Amino acid sequence: MSEPKRYTVTAALPYANGPVHIGHLAGCYLPADIYVRYLRQSQKDVKFICGSDEHGAAIMMKARAEGVSPQEIVDKYNGIMQEAFSGFGISFDIYSRTTKEIHHKTAQEFFLNLYNKGCFTEKETEQYYDEEAGQFLADRYIEGTCPKCSFENAYGDQCENCGSSLSPTELLNPRSKLSGAKPVLKATKHWFLPLDHLSGKIRAYIQEHKDWKPNVYGQCMSWLDDAGGLQARSMTRDLDWGIQVPLPDAEGKVLYVWFDAPIGYISATKELLGAEWEKYWKDDDTSLVHFIGKDNIVFHSIIFPAMLMEHGDFILPSQVPANEFLNLEGKKISTSRNWAVWLHEYLKEFEGNQDALRYVLCAAAPETKDNDFTWKDFQTRNNSELVAIYGNFVNRVLVLMQKYYQGAVPTPNALTEEDKAVLAVLKEAPQKLDEVLSKFKFRDALSTYMTIARAGNKYLADEEPWKKIKTDPERTATIMYVAVQVAAQLAQLGEPFMPFASAKLRDYLGLDLWSWSDCETEEFIAAGKVIQKGDLLFSKIEDEQVDFQLEKLNASKESNKVETKLSPLKEEISFDDFMKMDIRTGTILEAEKVKKADKLLQLRVDIGLEVRTIVSGIAEHFTPEEVVGKQVSVLANLAPRKIRGVESKGMILMAEDSEGKLVFAEPGSKIENGAIVR
Ligand code: 2FM
Ligand code: ZN
Repeated sequence: MSEPKRYTVTAALPYANGPVHIGHLAGCYLPADIYVRYLRQSQKDVKFICGSDEHGAAIMMKARAEGVSPQEIVDKYNGIMQEAFSGFGISFDIYSRTTKEIHHKTAQEFFLNLYNKGCFTEKETEQYYDEEAGQFLADRYIEGTCPKCSFENAYGDQCENCGSSLSPTELLNPRSKLSGAKPVLKATKHWFLPLDHLSGKIRAYIQEHKDWKPNVYGQCMSWLDDAGGLQARSMTRDLDWGIQVPLPDAEGKVLYVWFDAPIGYISATKELLGAEWEKYWKDDDTSLVHFIGKDNIVFHSIIFPAMLMEHGDFILPSQVPANEFLNLEGKKISTSRNWAVWLHEYLKEFEGNQDALRYVLCAAAPETKDNDFTWKDFQTRNNSELVAIYGNFVNRVLVLMQKYYQGAVPTPNALTEEDKAVLAVLKEAPQKLDEVLSKFKFRDALSTYMTIARAGNKYLADEEPWKKIKTDPERTATIMYVAVQVAAQLAQLGEPFMPFASAKLRDYLGLDLWSWSDCETEEFIAAGKVIQKGDLLFSKIEDEQVDFQLEKLNASKESNKVETKLSPLKEEISFDDFMKMDIRTGTILEAEKVKKADKLLQLRVDIGLEVRTIVSGIAEHFTPEEVVGKQVSVLANLAPRKIRGVESKGMILMAEDSEGKLVFAEPGSKIENGAIVR
């Protein structure tokens, strides 16, 4: 597309089933906000759309866990999330909700449009049904043993132990998470989007977008190319929470949450703009940009575009800038284990310091690979970059301006090469930033921005106006004039990254927000204009604050170990049951990795009677070298099974702690009480 006339920018609709944390901010909402603020300042016509995703199993499970209705859950978290976003200055034009009537109607119309055109395949399939609870089970409501790695608590759609994606019927020993009962298969009718038939069109669309970030393009291609290619996907579910399927023979059926949620972007635009909404979704000169986290890539770059193609009236996404994941202190952020930095808590504990987190999360954003947030790094970046460079420079300018000139900008004299060089940095900055911002390289953009502050800081340190004021007031006037211009440019171009500090600084300098192209200049404040005394823009983060945060994290880890992570006791068994197990000691003689299976080791184990092959899911915890020679306990009479083509006879008993760490179940192993041996 040549220069688009307008932009529809969306940020993934977060599930309203919990508060938002730094992972959400860094992965999606902050880059989206920076981009939108940049577009607005560049005087582009842009709408920034978001809202709560209030349907689906994620909401129902939370409601069950809290013992309240799904409606109560979404009401509660929608409010908390919205407050957190606005607290960080995420400048949505609208933050809507998928439980709104306008959305239900829009999603149903969309479904009917596809239905009437014959886009769906109607299929009767067998789905798990919980007879005790009297309902069909969403994939996440079914647990069982993973057929690939034998992990006992795999979900119906995925095994978190070996990462395989599963379908519920593949699970061994399935059980319902609702009642614990063994679910039964029952026939039910659903409407499928035949992605398999559409894959030619989808491939052509993706291939037109080689400009997408490599992580996004790569993931799309592997979905298209991986074993079997795209599969038809059901767009309806048997649930009692969601948007009714608008067909007469579909009682008790709702739209699949991933069908309705992206349509939420459209509904929210309608809600925002009334009749004007269409051009933001239908005109070819509109650029549709979806900011998301990496777990949402397939939905935004394959399934939603396929829905839009089938509908036919809509433009397709032109960009899907997805980030990878942010870890916290070296570990995956986990809501259930409370291993997270919650935005609403940060806002209270670091009041007025939102820009510090925006800065650090942008500087360390997981743009091309997963990245780690640590409180120490947060403190260092804040204290030695924001405070020591940007803050220090601005503070010196404001203080000296008052001291020497009562705030009135002095008239410059002849410019030296140094002055010219600094002013050139200002003039070039908007274009340099254009380069990277338009490619969604926000880390590079922030560092380009900080070169202005660095240049200003160095300029003052080199020129030392505090010395020259006594000997050379004329030169000092020029230096201070130049320094004021640098501060002004920082206030202008900082708007997308650190809107709070930028607004404050513009206020001190008596400036409005300028358009991006107007900022391609060397003079922002003419001589004679009076600027205010101002105040510090940033504050130091003290060691105590960091320690407090680390203690909080560790405390949540401790309490969670006991409260939630240790698995509950299983059903009682008889002595006879126990006696059926033949547990032997054995020694691992050989070990090698199983090809194409990150988690599996193939072992040769001497159990006295014979030497056996056993496949064990421990490769992420131990290297082959580490286990050779180990004495282990072996469940020797377990029926042989083929795992990744290798016949495994028996099972090595391991203990797994609440954090998923494995140790051999042998005397002397160091592991917490209550760890499960299996
Ligand atoms: O992953 C999630 O949190 C989803 N609720 C994102 C939905 S994005 C869009 F499709 F609405
Ligand atoms: Zn598995």
